[in-house]
Amino acid sequence: MIENISQVEFSQRRAALLQQLEDNCAVIIQSAPMVNRNSDVDYLFRQDSDFFYFTGFNEPDAVLLLTRVAGEVQYQVFCQPRDKKMEIWFGYRCGEQGLLDNFNVDAAYSNDLLAEKMPELLNGVKNLYYSLGRVSLNERVHGWLATMRKRSRQGVIAPSHLLQLDDVAHEMRLIKSATEQDLLRRASEISAQAHIIAMQVCKEQMMEFQLDAHIQHHFAMNGSQQAAYPSIVGGGKNACVLHYIENNQQLKSGDLVLIDAGAEYQYYAGDITRTFPINGKFSAEQAALYEVVLQANLECTAMIKPGTSWGAIHDHAVLVITSGLQSLGLLKGELHELIESESYREFFMHKLGHWLGMDVHDVGNYKQAGEWRQLQAGMVMTVEPGIYVAIDNMDVEARWRGIGIRIEDDVLITATGCEVMTESVPKTIVEIEALMAGGSV
Ligand code: GLY
Ligand code: MN
Ligand code: MN
Repeated sequence: MIENISQVEFSQRRAALLQQLEDNCAVIIQSAPMVNRNSDVDYLFRQDSDFFYFTGFNEPDAVLLLTRVAGEVQYQVFCQPRDKKMEIWFGYRCGEQGLLDNFNVDAAYSNDLLAEKMPELLNGVKNLYYSLGRVSLNERVHGWLATMRKRSRQGVIAPSHLLQLDDVAHEMRLIKSATEQDLLRRASEISAQAHIIAMQVCKEQMMEFQLDAHIQHHFAMNGSQQAAYPSIVGGGKNACVLHYIENNQQLKSGDLVLIDAGAEYQYYAGDITRTFPINGKFSAEQAALYEVVLQANLECTAMIKPGTSWGAIHDHAVLVITSGLQSLGLLKGELHELIESESYREFFMHKLGHWLGMDVHDVGNYKQAGEWRQLQAGMVMTVEPGIYVAIDNMDVEARWRGIGIRIEDDVLITATGCEVMTESVPKTIVEIEALMAGGSV
C-alpha cells in the first residue's frame, strides 16, 4: 500500500522552505482558481502544485501565508468560508475550523477577509517571497502593499524586498522524497499498464479517441481520476504534430500510432510515449527509423547517474539520431557538419526530456551558473527521443514521409545510477510485435 504525503511531510516542507529564506520573511502562495469550460460548466478542479506541495489542501480560492518574524513562525491560510447554500450546489468546504483541525494551521480566515487582514499580517515583514511571474498574484500583492502604504502614518511598515519564491521552492520540488518517489513509481506503473492495454486492443478503423478511452479506463480503475495531461494519440502523420490532442481521426492499417499518455496519481505524473504499428507489424521503413529512436532512448538512459550533465545526454541523443538519419539517407553530408548546422532539427526538434513530478513538465532549473546542471539522486526526468518526418518533406524519399516516432520513459536518478520506472511497457520491435500478436510481454 502506497502512503500519500503525510501532514508531517507537508509541515517539514514548510520548515525547510523557511530555513532557506532571509529572516523577517513572509511567503504567499495562492491556490488554483476554478476554470470555466462553457456556460455553467467548470473544468474538474486541479490544485496548484506549489500550493499543494506546501499545504496538502485541495480547495480553490485559498491563500497560504507563511511568516517568520523575529524567529516566530506562523502558518496561516485564507479559505472559502463554510456556506450552506454554496455547499449544497457546489460541494463541501473545509472551512476555517476544518483547517485548524486537520491541516496544522496556526490560524485560518475566510477569504472574504483577505483585503483587510493580509495588510495587517504583513506589517513589519521585510522580505516578501511569492511567485513573481504570476500576474494575478502580482496584482493582489501590489494591492495589499498599496493599502499598507496608505497606513504608513499609523506606523505600518510594508515589506521592502519582493523576492522570487520559485528559485527556492522549485529546487525543493526537484528532489523527490521517498514518498514522492513511491507515488511517481505508481503513476508510472499505472501509465505503463495502460500502454500495454492500448497495444493489445488497437485495431484499424478505431478512432484515436477510442484507443485513448481504453487508456483512461485503466487510469480510473487504478486510482487515477484524471490524466496528467491530455493524451496524444496520433495515427500516421498525426504523430508528427508534437502536441496533437484532437485525437479524432481513424486509425489505418499500415500506419504507426504514437501514444503519449500518463496517469496522475495523488498529484504525481506519469509520462510515457510508445509508438507501434496499428496492424501489429512494423514496415521496413518504420522499423528502420524506430531502431534509431530506440538506440537513442537506450543509450541516453544508460548515461543517467549522479554527476552526468543534462546537456551531455541531449547531445548524445542528437548524435545517435543524426547518425541514424545519415545512414538511412534522410540526411546527407558529413556527420559533424549536420550536427553543427542543426540539420537534425528538421526531424528531432525538441529536447531529450524534462523534469517530471507534480507537473508533467516539472519545475526546477536546467542550468546553473550558465552551465547545464548535473543530475542528482532524487531527481526524476523523462527520456524521450523522437524522429518526425513531415508529410510534406520533399527532401526525403516518399517512403519515409509521415512517419513519427517517440519512445518516452520516466527515470529516477538513484545514488548509483537510475531506475526506469516505466520499464514494464515493451519497447523493442520484437516485444511489441509479440504482445500485439497475443503473446505475453
Ligand atoms: N507529454 C508531454 C511530454 O512528453 O513532454
Ligand atoms: Mn514528456
Ligand atoms: Mn509525454
